[in-house]
Amino acid sequence: MDDDSMMTLAVLWFAFILFVVLTPENNEPPPINPLEQKALYNLLNSIDPTTPWTTLYPHGFCISPPSFLHCDSKSHIVQLNFGFISDQTDLLPCSPNATLQDPLLFTAFPYLRKISFSNCFNNTHKPIHSIPSFPPSLQHLLFIDNPSFISPLQPFLTNLTASLKKLVLIGNGFYGELPQQIGAFHDLLELTLSRNNLSGEIPASIGSLKKLEILDLSHNGFNGCVPQQVGSLISLSKLNLSYNSFGCKIPETFIHLKNLEFLDLSFNRFGKFGVPLFLGQLSKIKQVYLSGNKLSGEIPEIWEKLGAVEKIGFSNMGLVGEIPASMVVYLENLSYLGLDNNNLQGRIPDGFWYLLPYVDEINLENNNLTGRMEVTCGGDVVLKKMKLAGNIGYHLNITSDGCSSCPKGGTMGHSKRNGEF
Ligand SMILES: *[C@@H]1O[C@H](CO)[C@@H](O)[C@H](O)[C@H]1NC(C)=O
Ligand SMILES: *[C@@H]1O[C@H](CO)[C@@H](O)[C@H](O)[C@H]1NC(C)=O
Ligand SMILES: *[C@@H]1O[C@H](CO)[C@@H](O)[C@H](O)[C@H]1NC(C)=O
Ligand SMILES: *[C@@H]1O[C@H](CO)[C@@H](O)[C@H](O)[C@H]1NC(C)=O
Ligand SMILES: *[C@@H]1O[C@H](CO)[C@@H](O)[C@H](O)[C@H]1NC(C)=O
Ligand SMILES: *[C@@H]1O[C@H](CO)[C@@H](O)[C@H](O)[C@H]1NC(C)=O
Ligand SMILES: *[C@@H]1O[C@H](CO)[C@@H](O)[C@H](O)[C@H]1NC(C)=O
Ligand SMILES: *[C@@H]1O[C@H](CO)[C@@H](O)[C@H](O)[C@H]1NC(C)=O
Repeated sequence: MDDDSMMTLAVLWFAFILFVVLTPENNEPPPINPLEQKALYNLLNSIDPTTPWTTLYPHGFCISPPSFLHCDSKSHIVQLNFGFISDQTDLLPCSPNATLQDPLLFTAFPYLRKISFSNCFNNTHKPIHSIPSFPPSLQHLLFIDNPSFISPLQPFLTNLTASLKKLVLIGNGFYGELPQQIGAFHDLLELTLSRNNLSGEIPASIGSLKKLEILDLSHNGFNGCVPQQVGSLISLSKLNLSYNSFGCKIPETFIHLKNLEFLDLSFNRFGKFGVPLFLGQLSKIKQVYLSGNKLSGEIPEIWEKLGAVEKIGFSNMGLVGEIPASMVVYLENLSYLGLDNNNLQGRIPDGFWYLLPYVDEINLENNNLTGRMEVTCGGDVVLKKMKLAGNIGYHLNITSDGCSSCPKGGTMGHSKRNGEF
């Protein structure tokens, strides 16, 4: 290369750099629509009346937007996040005087896709009763830990767009029933309504939500039988109905939930129909909790296809009989097993002792298990992981002293039959 072409190259390079540096300035976002601008002043004044919004942002919000709001390239507001989450800074803190008095505050944002309120309406002296309407563009609606936001659920859903994808209402004052109209939200991927004051039965129309991946109704006052139609939600990966008053039999249609990874039905009133056998067919299941339902009966031999299981909570279920040795054989990924507060008897399968290096906890407390185990090594680990109190016929003799060849905690090898770790 001669000097001239070097020069040309350098000039071209310089021009290119200039282009890259200057282009964003040329692409400055267009001015915000005056209606959206005005609506935003109104909304922000109602969430945080102490900040002088018009003075701080006289020319709109999209040129260098505050972190709690997102604009698209055409200067339309697409996302708003209000409240407080520890370790998250991109929210606008809510004033204790925050209100939503005008129910049409949000309808002036025709491009809004996501809105969230976390720890925003928590002033118990100032309950919020107004029911806001949201624009049809909305895809994600989140209300998390707003205990003073008190509203019946049904009218709140009335004006929500049927194309909503996530409805997450956790820890608020929503009450009343889950209305039949929930079935109209065909695009829902997540319906989480935990820790509210909801009651009544799950409507059968819920079976229309074929795309639903997460259904969480935990910690409410729901009751009645769980409708068979929940078993037709074939996309579900998480089903959490814990801490309600559901009764009757756990629907056998759950056998169709082939994608289920998390099933939590604990602390309800499901009846004495035994541990459901369909569990044995849900081969993707990782966590299953049935604790606190008097299902009774013996632990069935259903474990062959359940190698993916990590956590099992079968506490306080009125279980009788012996612990099947097959549990240990197949559950290669087990980290937690709770079988405490049942009426299990007989020996503890040897396999449990071999598993101990790999699990976090096996809780067998308050049963009627019998036998003895001599532990000459790693007794502290055994005591931490294997909970055996309240089995009067079981003798665990730990003599760890003077055990020099004992490998430490997590790395201890498979135990021997006689309990040497
Ligand atoms: C409400 O939440 C805020 C954090 O957003 C917190 O500082 C305040 O103490 C809470 N108020 C009440 C009454 O819980
Ligand atoms: C809330 O409103 C009351 C009465 O209107 C007022 O005295 C108080 O200063 C307000 N608090 C805040 C943080 O704006
Ligand atoms: C639903 O929207 C319509 C029209 O915007 C309004 O008249 C009605 O009051 C809204 N209903 C509820 C329950 O918010
Ligand atoms: C739920 O309802 C009960 C009684 O109906 C009431 O005492 C309680 O405060 C309500 N909880 C919430 C979070 O609204
Ligand atoms: C189900 O919900 C309860 C209460 O909201 C929660 O504590 C529990 O961890 C959830 N279960 C699963 C498997 O996520
Ligand atoms: C056990 O867990 C490992 C690591 O997460 C995973 O690769 C393996 O597939 C699991 N085993 C079964 C049978 O699912
Ligand atoms: C415990 O099991 C023994 C048989 O191993 C049985 O005789 C006894 O009644 C059981 N105790 C309870 C409280 O169920
Ligand atoms: C516990 O084991 C030691 C050593 O094997 C033995 O000397 C002792 O008698 C045992 N204690 C009980 C209560 O069985």
